[in-house]
Amino acid sequence: MSGARAVTTNQTDIYDKLEEAVRKYASTEYLRPIADHTRTAFAEAEKFVLNFYESASHTTHKVILDSGCGTGESTLNIALTNPGIPVIGIDKSAARLTKAGGAGNGTATFPQNAFFVRAELLDFWRLALGKVKAGQWHIPYHALYYPNPWPKQSEATRRFHLHPIFPTLLQLGDAIELRTNWEIYAREFAEAARIAAPERTIAREPFDSEHPVTAFERKYKEARQQLWRVIVSRD
Ligand SMILES: C[S@@+](CC[C@H](N)C(=O)[O-])C[C@H]1O[C@@H](n2cnc3c(N)ncnc32)[C@H](O)[C@@H]1O
Repeated sequence: MSGARAVTTNQTDIYDKLEEAVRKYASTEYLRPIADHTRTAFAEAEKFVLNFYESASHTTHKVILDSGCGTGESTLNIALTNPGIPVIGIDKSAARLTKAGGAGNGTATFPQNAFFVRAELLDFWRLALGKVKAGQWHIPYHALYYPNPWPKQSEATRRFHLHPIFPTLLQLGDAIELRTNWEIYAREFAEAARIAAPERTIAREPFDSEHPVTAFERKYKEARQQLWRVIVSRD
């Protein structure tokens, strides 16, 4: 997977209408109907969490999310370093999840706290927020590693931080960690978080992943690309 190309874009700075978009969505609710297949996938994730804790749904359970997990290496990695917490890897691509060992859910060699679901994030996140608001899920950490950058200016509003889903995403995690190989995306994400959640602590930094934890991270590292991360956290 070497030779990954750097992001190609006609954008030289952060999106010029970023503040306008973020403020607009901060005061509106994203109402697109939730797809049935994601409701079903979410119910499976919910069941996995309850089985993991062997307890009833009225207590609060810690859950870690790995959103857009792709082939799922990061999900397995996070699960191994957090053995007491269920880690849900979510992706809409069946092909990538199959490579992830999505087929390995629940097998003996698989971390018992890892679970993969095929779902649409825009829907899964709203269902997850329902669990958080009901006091049933507490999300200490939320990985958002190398989301699709949508690098053309004309595609900017497909980026999660310029989309009506952003206020929902910001409520899902004591710490949300975005990783990207595109500096402008990191700057935009940090700026959007600063506008929408001024009470949070936001750290943005270049980083070198000594041991890549995702397929894309490895590919970028092999191509010697600079990586960036933004961590949005509650104090
Ligand atoms: C660039 S890949 C990164 C995958 C993985 N995190 C990695 O670093 O190797 C982005 C992933 O996000 C998934 N994805 C993008 N938008 C999504 C959405 N709206 N719902 C679910 N998955 C999505 C894609 O299927 C893809 O696997």
